[in-house]
Amino acid sequence: MDKMWAGRFNKQLDERVNDFNSSVRFDCRMAEEDITGSLAHAAMLAKQGIISAEDCDKITQGLKSILSDLLGGALAIDMSAEDIHMFIEAELTARIGDAGKRLHTSRSRNDQVALDLRMYLRREAAEIKALVISLADTLIDIASKHTHTVMPGYTHMQRAQPITFAHHLCAYAEMMVRDIKRLDNTVELMNECPLGSCALAGTTYDIDRDYTASELGFTRACGNSLDGVSDRDFVMQLASDLSIISVHLSRLSEEIIMWCSWEFKFIELDDAYATGSSIMPQKKNPDIAELIRGKAGRVIGHNVSLLVMMKGLPLAYDKDMQEDKEAIFDSCDTVKLCVSTLIPMLATMTVNKDNMLKAGNKGFINATDCADYLVKKGMPFRTAYKVVGTLVALCTDKGLTLDTLPLEEYKKASDMFDGDIYDAIELINCVNRRRSAGGPAPQAVEAEIESLRVAIDSKRH
Ligand code: ARG
Repeated sequence: MDKMWAGRFNKQLDERVNDFNSSVRFDCRMAEEDITGSLAHAAMLAKQGIISAEDCDKITQGLKSILSDLLGGALAIDMSAEDIHMFIEAELTARIGDAGKRLHTSRSRNDQVALDLRMYLRREAAEIKALVISLADTLIDIASKHTHTVMPGYTHMQRAQPITFAHHLCAYAEMMVRDIKRLDNTVELMNECPLGSCALAGTTYDIDRDYTASELGFTRACGNSLDGVSDRDFVMQLASDLSIISVHLSRLSEEIIMWCSWEFKFIELDDAYATGSSIMPQKKNPDIAELIRGKAGRVIGHNVSLLVMMKGLPLAYDKDMQEDKEAIFDSCDTVKLCVSTLIPMLATMTVNKDNMLKAGNKGFINATDCADYLVKKGMPFRTAYKVVGTLVALCTDKGLTLDTLPLEEYKKASDMFDGDIYDAIELINCVNRRRSAGGPAPQAVEAEIESLRVAIDSKRH
């Protein structure tokens, strides 16, 4: 096919250069947005008397028939085209003749691609947001069944203090709520219409940018034609949102992987979400969680690629920017895939409460509570901390825990200890007393669940 810009040139483009230059194999996914944008642009040109109503009708019919042929499979995209914009315009002209050649009046591919990409990513962001909402819903549903399921909380991967499984899952739900808010903010900033920026310097035609902006569902037309075609902040911001989501999914996956190990056995994955080994018959591997953890690397990688690609570009459009699409498309695809696999994997896992409690009973995670017992009887915290430290050392020597250490040993360490110490350091009591807002006590977590639900409900459509 002859290039649209062939007039200026004496030779056909080298075939390898054509392949290298072409973006149609990946920007073809914006075909629908491209057509929707062109429909609004044509309507605006007609409204302003820039093209005739008759040409506008032909363009409209032509574009609609192209769209339905593309969706129905009657029209295949020519993979030797330079990009989806050129392909659709050429196809339109082939179908309707000269009227098709008028569509690009007062427009450039620079504002066209900026428009298409905003519309495409706006839709992707909405889909991803819906998925993250259902992931948060899933976490909260599981959490609501485990507000009394005691488990050790860890710092430095050492058993630290008692929490509940619900408390742990709600921490992730909090992250998801922030992820959802970030996506909303990204869409809000993205939702300005670049159409009418043209190549970079606007146009001499009397166009109506507010009309196309509102027809296409944007909050306003972007304020500067140079910025309109140069800006890829919305791509970088979405890529960064997706990186953060991936980090969250990856951390949760890492914990799932640990919890599945024989060292923990806190949970067991459903057989439909685990795989076996080709040689070791006993193995049940958390491959799905590992893949989600692994895929975070590529999403973060795309984010970095985009930032580096943009950082040295002068205004306005430079071809480097064509590299934005594969990166952000793959990030969207990857995150959608990860979230939609993670949801049923979580929903079907079995929680092994007994093992969580057993682990809790072993790691001296009630040592702080033991010190607090003395503090409540008047001892300064630092002194109490020391006393309990010596008791822990004693227990370790004797192969005991704070729960099995005889009262006389307690008394030797401090005469403030009484028989009620055992009740004070019982794990469930330790958890129940951690009633500070945001803490692990069942009533605190129930309140948290309630406000998480309110926050998430306000984000549903
Ligand atoms: N395929 C191009 C891209 O994805 C479209 C814009 C081309 N503009 C231009 N002036 N060459 O960025």
